[in-house]
Amino acid sequence: MDLPLPLIELDELTLRRFVEADLPEFLRVIEESLEHLRPWMAWVSEHSATRTADFLARRAECWATGEEFTYAILLDGAVVGAAGLFRRETTEAGGREIGYWLHPAATGRGLATRTAGALTEQAFRLSGTEFVEIVHDSANLASGAVPARLGYTRHLRRAVERIAPAETGEDQVWRLTRPRADPV
Ligand SMILES: CC(C)(COP(=O)(O)OP(=O)(O)OC[C@H]1O[C@@H](n2cnc3c(N)ncnc32)[C@H](O)[C@@H]1OP(=O)(O)O)[C@@H](O)C(=O)NCCC(=O)NCCS
Repeated sequence: MDLPLPLIELDELTLRRFVEADLPEFLRVIEESLEHLRPWMAWVSEHSATRTADFLARRAECWATGEEFTYAILLDGAVVGAAGLFRRETTEAGGREIGYWLHPAATGRGLATRTAGALTEQAFRLSGTEFVEIVHDSANLASGAVPARLGYTRHLRRAVERIAPAETGEDQVWRLTRPRADPV
């Protein structure tokens, strides 16, 4: 199986696969971000240090099996968020999905957009990826602005269970199809 790069360096922004030693720093970043993430991220209501430790402990296996490639987002070497390239049970064949979140102090400077752009590139390096999706609650406009900046197009909206507090129960799915190689 081909794998994405474990380390992607884009000047002051670095994406690096998580390791268990990230726990203390990652936990601090999560805890400082809880109220910012709570409206949109269902896992926040169940957050605990133990769950975060379990999450990090499972990253290596998820990476090896191709289930999810999870990256720490680092700004000047400090963790400021997380992003993943993954496949859901509901993802159609040939598709992969990207997710992301940032510490509130790291928003507003293009880090999520550049992260999602880099993970889109990695997704298309993997054989079998025909399209990449970004999915967010239709009211989560900050999240939707990320795929819009990257040239994704609105693919469909679908009804889903409302779990996180601000969710409307309708997801917006954005899709970018593998660019065709130009004929020589
Ligand atoms: C979703 C989330 C990561 C988006 O963060 P963000 O800061 O809006 O997105 P970016 O990091 O791409 O930054 C974009 C902003 O930086 C600006 N920017 C500066 N340089 C930029 C660059 N090189 N490229 C893109 N944007 C740039 C943009 O104009 C934009 O500014 P604006 O917010 O005033 O319009 C953030 O809102 C978040 O963590 N939300 C909570 C968790 C969440 O909802 N996750 C998604 C679940 S589906």
